[in-house]
Amino acid sequence: MLGLSLLGGCSPLLFLLVLLLPLVSLHRLNHQERSEPSVTDRPKLLLVSFDGFRWDYIDRVPTPNFRSIMDEGVLVEYVENAYITKTFPNHYSLVTGLYAETHGIVANEMYDPALNMSFSMETDSIYDSRWWEEAVPLWVTVQKAGGRSGAAMWPGSDVKIHGLFPNQYLQYNASVSFETRVEWIIEWFSAPKEEAVDFGVLYWEEPDESGHNLGPQSSLMDVVIAGIDEKLGFLLNELKKAGLYEKVNLIVTSDHGMAQLSADNIIELDEYVSRDMYTWVDKSPVVGILPKEGKFDEVYNSLLDANPNMAVYKKDDIPEHFHYRHNIRIMPILLEAKEGWTIMQNRTGHFMLGNHGYDNTLRSMQPVFVARGPAFRQNYVKTSMRSVDLYPLMCHILSIRPLPNNGSLLNVQDLLSSLPDSPTPIPNHPPPTPPKASGYSYAPVVGSFLGVVMVLGFLVVYVILVTLKQRPSLKHRSWEMSQPLLQEDLHL
Ligand SMILES: *[C@@H]1O[C@H](CO)[C@@H](O)[C@H](O)[C@H]1NC(C)=O
Ligand SMILES: *[C@@H]1O[C@H](CO)[C@@H](O)[C@H](O)[C@H]1NC(C)=O
Ligand SMILES: *[C@@H]1O[C@H](CO)[C@@H](O)[C@H](O)[C@H]1NC(C)=O
Ligand SMILES: *[C@@H]1O[C@H](CO)[C@@H](O)[C@H](O)[C@H]1NC(C)=O
Ligand SMILES: [Zn+2]
Repeated sequence: MLGLSLLGGCSPLLFLLVLLLPLVSLHRLNHQERSEPSVTDRPKLLLVSFDGFRWDYIDRVPTPNFRSIMDEGVLVEYVENAYITKTFPNHYSLVTGLYAETHGIVANEMYDPALNMSFSMETDSIYDSRWWEEAVPLWVTVQKAGGRSGAAMWPGSDVKIHGLFPNQYLQYNASVSFETRVEWIIEWFSAPKEEAVDFGVLYWEEPDESGHNLGPQSSLMDVVIAGIDEKLGFLLNELKKAGLYEKVNLIVTSDHGMAQLSADNIIELDEYVSRDMYTWVDKSPVVGILPKEGKFDEVYNSLLDANPNMAVYKKDDIPEHFHYRHNIRIMPILLEAKEGWTIMQNRTGHFMLGNHGYDNTLRSMQPVFVARGPAFRQNYVKTSMRSVDLYPLMCHILSIRPLPNNGSLLNVQDLLSSLPDSPTPIPNHPPPTPPKASGYSYAPVVGSFLGVVMVLGFLVVYVILVTLKQRPSLKHRSWEMSQPLLQEDLHL
């Protein structure tokens, strides 16, 4: 339409330009994407995790701040996170795009038989780099690519990994308030251009802690969830005050959900097997069992079929779809409680009303996901994604080349305001099936459009050349004068 109306009133050169414009601007876009962006226009991204914020919490009480992100951005309804659905494994999956068996943080409590070392999120053992170096977190990759990153208490972000800390980070300290963490993040993003961070990660311990103590079904959780929405509001407001709101892409998600437990649903291992025969490395609801020397068969046979509410796997028999087998830190026997059940040695231990760690396809285990900012579409609801898909998405937003990972940009590119211009490889893993994903591609449409534009372009050039050749005097005359003739020729 634009071309046709110009045809009547403008000169042929202009018309030619209009036709060729799409090609020129596409070329320029490609060029921009490939060259190093200058410091000021480098894309910005802030990834926020509210620990244990289950996907459906936003519908439970009014959550106006989550709503505003959804209205201005995107919501993903079904996010399949990584097995096991625990804090450390999932936070590392979010920033590496890898399943736990590949990134090596397979649990909150681990034993590495090769290192003969134990890892516990309760101790300083987490500061040993060797636990983390089977993968490279995004903040390190950003820095190796010449960008800068800042981290406020994200699990692992105060550990030196592959020789680097984040450019800016806070030593983990649960007593530091959310507001203080936000103030640091704002300061890092607002620093003078050479020092400003490009990628930030922000972590908050709630509503996980309350979910464990109260149980997600407790009505007291309503207040906790409303409180998280207020904290999110504080963050949004600080971003606005600092003039960052329209610049920074913001992703708000979580590591896992929370299931309601009951003191009636307890599995006592002491009933089935003596404590002397094994060490339990990781605890309920998915228990890593290391049998004592020579006791494997006895322990395994005692536990197998012991309790209908507990699945018992030899490491090699752990279901394929968990992607939870191929790591020396995964114990020889894995016990998995049914949703809502607790595995203990006896009832004397610490019992919680809420827990997570269960099967990652359970709805109760899944996190919230909303995002907004210049890179994201507006007011768009996507049905499903895997949390490992977030990594290639973040790399794309930051213009960083992703390291090998288990995610797929193709699965999530419909969240973006403009589609990636380079062809994306076919994903190893399609989006999670239940419910069916709504992934689609513009590539064929864009391709045919380009084809048509090019054919038209060449046609126009040809016609003009022929016209010019036929009328050698034309080039000495003004374009305005030649207009009626060309107009006639072009009335196809
Ligand atoms: C593993 O370390 C412990 C001390 O933490 C030591 O007692 C044990 O002998 C070590 N085992 C091996 C196989 O080196
Ligand atoms: C942790 O943060 C609190 C509150 O800011 C502070 O009082 C305390 O000294 C900090 N602890 C450490 C070990 O830095
Ligand atoms: C449960 O285990 C604890 C040690 O963890 C022990 O002290 C207690 O006696 C046991 N209780 C029963 C009822 O066996
Ligand atoms: C996940 O990605 C890593 C790195 O590319 C690869 O080694 C691993 O085999 C992948 N896992 C699966 C289940 O595809
Ligand atoms: Zn958690």
